[in-house]
Amino acid sequence: MPRTALSIFKSCSEKVTLFPTQRLFKAIADVEQHPSQAVAYAHLKSVMGKHFRFEEDMMKEAQFADLATHKGIHEDFEATLRASQVPISSEKVTGAKQWLVDHIKLVDFKYKGKLHG
Ligand SMILES: [Fe+2]
Ligand SMILES: [Fe+2]
Repeated sequence: MPRTALSIFKSCSEKVTLFPTQRLFKAIADVEQHPSQAVAYAHLKSVMGKHFRFEEDMMKEAQFADLATHKGIHEDFEATLRASQVPISSEKVTGAKQWLVDHIKLVDFKYKGKLHG
């Protein structure tokens, strides 16, 4: 049986569950509660990066045509996060949350049931 994109995603599902979107939202909520804590902000950047890299690895394995564009979107957001330092304003927290919601709904949506279970 040929390895379809779906079967590759399924075989990688264990990886993605290490950094599911709930963990990303939890990390944002922690920054919201502790905007001055550098450790909370570093954790947010770390789990975001790990989630994105897993997602990109799966897309690469499945040879998705728009991987480069998708990777660019992730990297732009990571650059935005890196440009900020604690204390993180509530506007920035709201912006990050909104970015993530929009990204999942509008961009990752194409892989619904594959990337995010
Ligand atoms: Fe994602
Ligand atoms: Fe994504």
